[in-house]
Amino acid sequence: LELQMNLEEIEKGGYDHFMLKEIYEQPRAIKDTYRGRLLADQGIIRMAGIDQNLEKFMNANRIIIVACGTSWHAGLVAEYIFEDLARIPVEVEYASEFRYRNPVITEKDVLIAISQSGETADTLAAIKLAKEKGAFVFGVCNVVGSSIARESDAGAYTHAGPEIGVASTKAFTTQITVLTLLALKLAKEKGTFSETEFHEFLTELETIPSKVERALEANPLIEIISDVYKDSTNCLYLGRGYNFPVALEGALKLKEISYIHAEGYPAAEMKHGPIALIDEHMPVFVIATKKGHYEKVVSNIQEIKSRKGKIIAIVTEGDEQVKELADHVIEVPETLESLSPLLTTIPLQLLSYHIAVMRGCNVDQPRNLAKSVTVE
Ligand code: G6P
Repeated sequence: LELQMNLEEIEKGGYDHFMLKEIYEQPRAIKDTYRGRLLADQGIIRMAGIDQNLEKFMNANRIIIVACGTSWHAGLVAEYIFEDLARIPVEVEYASEFRYRNPVITEKDVLIAISQSGETADTLAAIKLAKEKGAFVFGVCNVVGSSIARESDAGAYTHAGPEIGVASTKAFTTQITVLTLLALKLAKEKGTFSETEFHEFLTELETIPSKVERALEANPLIEIISDVYKDSTNCLYLGRGYNFPVALEGALKLKEISYIHAEGYPAAEMKHGPIALIDEHMPVFVIATKKGHYEKVVSNIQEIKSRKGKIIAIVTEGDEQVKELADHVIEVPETLESLSPLLTTIPLQLLSYHIAVMRGCNVDQPRNLAKSVTVE
């Protein structure tokens, strides 16, 4: 037993939990995921699974993304990227709903299945259904040789390395990285993106690992903020556009490991319900980065403030306006709007982590949850 415990300590690499280690591995994991694929100086993205099946993507009427849990949130981010950059219509589906809904699938559809484990039963079943109907199936998995990877017609692995913590962290950001590369490649092929834009994007993508490092530097501040809100019973997460799925993911992370009830919402939907919940006991985590609906999110923040809600805002470095209104601000470096989820996710992961640790929860193995859900 002692040997086993020592082994685990070594595997944790000096961190208290696998989750924290995996959060800190993200700069490397993201880099590993684009290494060899993103050739910024040559202005190319090389991905064998796409290069060999390019016409399937180019002729696709639409892309259907199926996934569960955190992978589904990565799919939602991808919807924004694919539509914005490559102008391809995208639908994002919970695999469990899709498979039982008698969905309309044709041979002109491309189905992208996203799964860290590659073993999720509902996602696997969705793939089989799509294949039967003649759709082309592309898998985005982390575990090499997993069932979903084998069942797909083609695919691209995330190179996150083993993810042990049940709450997914580095798998999420590397899934977004792979899907961004895919969208960029299609944008270039389709000509929806100019050479200059393409080049600028590639160059910016290469700066993301160091910007994630910088976002991680907020950890001591995040620990202080976590201590203030650790006894909350409810939390609200708001974001817009590319950062709406990040709000969903932030809320999921908190409920998974700290057992605090949390809801993610698109900021503009607040007035259609969640605003009724806001009082001085309600912490609201708002993603309010400079690019993308900033002014609109600022007015949401004002509405929360006037109802005495506590505001914890994720802002772009140097932001002044939100700092005036919020109870706490956490800065992330500036980047393109479409790449911002890779940065805004980081403080929300750390917040959940610290709150869960402070509440004495089993961070790496939360109650009732499994890393890989191989049954319905
Ligand atoms: C479980 C895990 C989640 C994960 C989801 C989908 O619920 O606890 O972290 O996001 O399954 O898993 P997959 O392996 O398909 O990404």
